Amino acid sequence: PVLVPKTVKDEEEEDDVDPDKVKLTVFFGTQTGTAEGFAKAVAEEIKARYEKAVVKVMDLDDYAADDDRYEEKLKKETLAFFLVATYGDGEPTDNAARFYKWFTEGKEREPWLQQLTYGVFGLGNRQYEHFNKIGKVIDEQLSEQGAKRLVPLGLGDDDQCIEDDFTAWREQLWPELDLILRGQDDADSVSTPYTAAIPEYRVTTYDPATTFCDDNHAYRSDGDASYDVHHPCRVNVAVQKELHTPESGRSCIHLEFDLSGTGLVYETGDHVGVFAENCDETVEEAAKLLGQPLNLLFSIHSDKDDGTSLGGSLPPPFPGPCTLRTALARYADLLNPPRKASLIALAAHAAETSEVERLKFLSSPQGKDEYAHWIVGSQRSLLEVMAEFPSSKPPLGVFFASVVPRLQPRYYSISSSPRLAPSRVHVTCAMVYGPSPTGRIHKGVCSTWMKNAIPLESSSDCSWAPIFIRTSNFKLPADPSTPIIMVGPGTGLAPFRGFLQERLALKREGAQLGPSMLFFGCRNRRMDFIYANELKDFVDQGVVSELIVAFSREGLQKEYVQHKMMEKAAQVWSLISQEGYLYVCGDAKAMARDVHRTLHTIIQQQENVDSSKAEAMVKKLQMDGRYLRDVW
Ligand code: 2AM
Repeated sequence: PVLVPKTVKDEEEEDDVDPDKVKLTVFFGTQTGTAEGFAKAVAEEIKARYEKAVVKVMDLDDYAADDDRYEEKLKKETLAFFLVATYGDGEPTDNAARFYKWFTEGKEREPWLQQLTYGVFGLGNRQYEHFNKIGKVIDEQLSEQGAKRLVPLGLGDDDQCIEDDFTAWREQLWPELDLILRGQDDADSVSTPYTAAIPEYRVTTYDPATTFCDDNHAYRSDGDASYDVHHPCRVNVAVQKELHTPESGRSCIHLEFDLSGTGLVYETGDHVGVFAENCDETVEEAAKLLGQPLNLLFSIHSDKDDGTSLGGSLPPPFPGPCTLRTALARYADLLNPPRKASLIALAAHAAETSEVERLKFLSSPQGKDEYAHWIVGSQRSLLEVMAEFPSSKPPLGVFFASVVPRLQPRYYSISSSPRLAPSRVHVTCAMVYGPSPTGRIHKGVCSTWMKNAIPLESSSDCSWAPIFIRTSNFKLPADPSTPIIMVGPGTGLAPFRGFLQERLALKREGAQLGPSMLFFGCRNRRMDFIYANELKDFVDQGVVSELIVAFSREGLQKEYVQHKMMEKAAQVWSLISQEGYLYVCGDAKAMARDVHRTLHTIIQQQENVDSSKAEAMVKKLQMDGRYLRDVW
């Protein structure tokens, strides 16, 4: 899995807790901030309910600097909750990866956590194969290692309403925590239902005439820096071009970021995280709905800094005074459907009673179906929702703290190799563009930004973006003579273009390349056969032994990569049997699942074994790191 190189600050040990109090830790493993938000919410509620509780919210990465410290500190915990998301192909989030590896792969231990009582809430999505794997494993492991489960594992499903799942899980906590934490003074707080306050930032506004404002000072590119999600590197767009022909009616962008002078390095197969901006149209619409001018100069601050403060997993609100235009463009996730917490905050600032009622209904248990239908099902964006409730004009401190989530970086599999392009990161990005159920044209934030990006090739006033590298385990075998099979339809081709560039460089250095097959899939050779000429060159140069392309919309029948794999079953299995590697990249929900089944069938046929034996062989390949997937 993925580990972000980051300096870990091992949180200092708390001073001894007052003997009348009970220490409680809420751990989170978060990628986009949801688990972190839930962790903070449950911590606040515990504090409000129980005088006796001393609650701390903990980023799993910040908890301990190394494995020994994890062990040492965890031994001292007596009451803890784990709110952990599952990401990608059943992987932990970046900030939980180190803990997860240590906790699950560690040495065989005697039960050693008997002093700990715990609860786990997992965040996942049922559409994916490894639904909530991380939550399930942590819950099971805690129990196996001796800890006592306070409440059943919660399985949050982001395909439906994960806030409802969280609320349901949280409700189970109170009767149990009452037994442990309830003091005499708490009697009242238990009988009255807790209503969370709506968090709000403090806002300071500035006079643009007298305030110097450099919106970009937060981004560095100073040559010797170590960059990560919290400290991205500012890079220029060097090249931008369309890969589809006009006939395709769709768009796929090839983009190159210029790394020269930044010190940013990467390896073939890594991912790049890109902070894109909302387009002008979106930003202008948002300012109009808020009733504020785009050139308003302001800053926001959170008062509390006790580990339960606002701010999300990314750096504190804004780097300094900035214009509303910049704040909305860079930091506001305006196009996703709003969570219920956002609706509650909008309701609190709506002037029209009918709007207040409707917003409250949508966020209430009774409004569950309506929320599922009107918000989630119809993919109604936050902006669309705000437009339906024009009397709600939340102040900026509320808007940025409680209504709009932070705009998240988008991750791409890098489509180049540093051996061939040391000062460039190449990205291959399919345009997200199409009508939503409400009739709005949904345009993906980052792909739209890339589509509109101006490269250095055409203007010295070119586009730039803050980016960072996320390392991956999707790597070529150490020995170039090892056989490889690559399966990547559509933009799933991206990392394989990097692989082939690397193999070309190796070959030029005199390495003996092993046999390789590349299965690529697209709709039609005249429209979306991306990098076709490069791929043919790679074949001519012996960098890939065989290129097999499935065209899904040329004939009467759909032809997919897995059909082509089936046709070549004997060859595929022969290469894998020679200690070969199988790589799959692309869509997780359909393609990767189908390819997985195909692999299973190929093994059954070729080895003449039953289904469970084939299953075991697939597992073994995965365990050996010879069946690798980079899927989303
Ligand atoms: P389609 O759009 O014609 O269905 C890249 O997106 C290619 O992957 C397209 O040719 C697309 O075909 C194909 N594709 C769609 N679903 C797939 C699946 N489940 N397995 C493999 N390829 C798939």
